Amino acid sequence: MIESVFMNKIIHPEISDIIVLPNQIEAVKASSRKIIEAVQKNHEVSITYATGNTMIPVYAELAKAVKAKEVDFSNTKAFHLDEYYPYSPQGEFSFVRFLNEKVFIPLNIPESNRNLLDGTAKDGYNEAKRYDALVSRGIDIAILGIGPGEHIGFNERNTPFDSRTHLAQLSDETVYRDQVERGQDTPGKALTQGIGTILEAKSILMIAYGENKGKYLKNALYGEITPYSPASALRLVGDKVCIVIDKRAADILVD
Ligand code: GLP
Repeated sequence: MIESVFMNKIIHPEISDIIVLPNQIEAVKASSRKIIEAVQKNHEVSITYATGNTMIPVYAELAKAVKAKEVDFSNTKAFHLDEYYPYSPQGEFSFVRFLNEKVFIPLNIPESNRNLLDGTAKDGYNEAKRYDALVSRGIDIAILGIGPGEHIGFNERNTPFDSRTHLAQLSDETVYRDQVERGQDTPGKALTQGIGTILEAKSILMIAYGENKGKYLKNALYGEITPYSPASALRLVGDKVCIVIDKRAADILVD
């Protein structure tokens, strides 16, 4: 039970809920608990799943809860935030592959309830359009991380706040992280839900831990609200945003 754990809140003028947990493990538990409770309340909830290292332990917690029969995801609808393009779903760093392995299979989400971006589509523009129509039917919870240049999904700096799902050119910073720091052979383009698409979700859960993420968040939450900082767009819909962070990120935020 997370109630027994020290949990602090940061008061922010626009974001209704910023929850600080003492460490990453507790932040993971608190955020997965939120997702589990949402599914327990509504078995048919639609969820957009981010990928990335931040999410690995969160999805592992969800899988544990499913195994323990605490929660049933089999009627939920799953959506995808972003995918490299062009890129095969079998590719080592494919986000489809990530979701299959860490979300869809362990959470027993049937194929018919998985809505995926196709990184092998011949025409990326049409694929983005097709996918945006699917997402626009309504997302209950969008799970987000934050990345280089304060990006959300693969919406890099200067992406318009009203952007829809589109084919994005990745920034030098993101390509450096992917290809140099993480040694990935991934392309410099990606399909991503747009900022406008993401902001339409009924609720948004952002999860971030560590100092680096604290730095991104500091700019996004306390700098100017501007497309130069894609995550700052969350402040436009702050009443439906919950951000779960660990103390290491929070220390940077309040510094
Ligand atoms: C990636 C993805 C995002 C993800 C973010 C953080 O580039 N496009 O959807 O949230 O960057 O990733 P990580 O958790 O691995 O740091």
